Amino acid sequence: LTIKAGSYADELVKTAKTVASPGHGIMAMDESNATCGKRLASIGLENTEANRQAYRTLLVSAPGLGNYVSGAILFEETLYQSTVDGKKIVDILVEQKIVPGIKVDKGLVPLAGSNDESWCQGLDGLASRCAAYYQQGARFAKWRTVVSIPNGPSALAVKEAAWGLARYASIAQDNGLVPIVEPEILLDGEHGIDRTFEVAQNVWAEVFFYLAQNNVMFEGILLKPSMVTPGAECKERATPEQVADYTLNLLRRRIPPAVPGIMFLSGGQSELEATLNLNAMNQSPNPWHVSFSYARALQNTCLKTWGGLPENVKAAQDVLLTRAKANSLAQIGKYTG
Ligand code: 13P
Repeated sequence: LTIKAGSYADELVKTAKTVASPGHGIMAMDESNATCGKRLASIGLENTEANRQAYRTLLVSAPGLGNYVSGAILFEETLYQSTVDGKKIVDILVEQKIVPGIKVDKGLVPLAGSNDESWCQGLDGLASRCAAYYQQGARFAKWRTVVSIPNGPSALAVKEAAWGLARYASIAQDNGLVPIVEPEILLDGEHGIDRTFEVAQNVWAEVFFYLAQNNVMFEGILLKPSMVTPGAECKERATPEQVADYTLNLLRRRIPPAVPGIMFLSGGQSELEATLNLNAMNQSPNPWHVSFSYARALQNTCLKTWGGLPENVKAAQDVLLTRAKANSLAQIGKYTG
């Protein structure tokens, strides 16, 4: 069965399956320099290349991380970075059996003609950048665009988000990178869970429409959705069982089983919430690998524990491993706290 003519087809399927393997998920550590600066500022550190290097070295070299994490998303700087000892960060990941990935979008800018919404840049020159990232060892990519519920979302913003993701996905596959398709539906807002569900259904319908139009091979992509939850400022909170119920309903209605992996973002949930919600989704078998691609929900306590001090590296790595293990157990529905 030929699913897509193209020199990388078999490799894409293999990479996606490797990342979406039982008991494993993704560590997102692809904060842009600006976002990384905010994280470092929260522990009183300056946003220098040396501090970013020290922190990212700590993350990738946590002993045994590969038992729980199958992929790591890097920012461009880290893909080309070495540790203080001169070891390439990519090589450390490969030794840990963690597939290196790369954030390829160029961030959000205002979407003219919309209701104060944004769109994601980065298609210009994307093919040659993807080819260079592949040469450097990356095997998957990420493109994050956002949809805001309080601001609409307008039909224009949803269409632009979906089209951009589909163009990116096609270009990434052409260059050997498994695209992570991430239309983040932002948590901000007072809306209830039913409204999130409604918006998510529209967004994913458009995303898959344009993915198909662009001849993207579904067996060689990964998704990074937001879980279906009430808005962050909504008074009525939802239990993990409710979140799981709504989110799985969304996936069943919108995501073909050909897609190998659904790797959720944490989007501002607490570390524990993100684990409990994932665990609830894995209480019965799913057609896809339902897992995590967390940044904050893996790193928050780790970062605080480190605090920029070399003597805290081991304690910080232990905290990271605790979170990674908890989410690994949640991936197989066996997290018990
Ligand atoms: P959070 O898990 O912190 O939402 O980040 C995941 C991510 O990579 C968003 O693009």
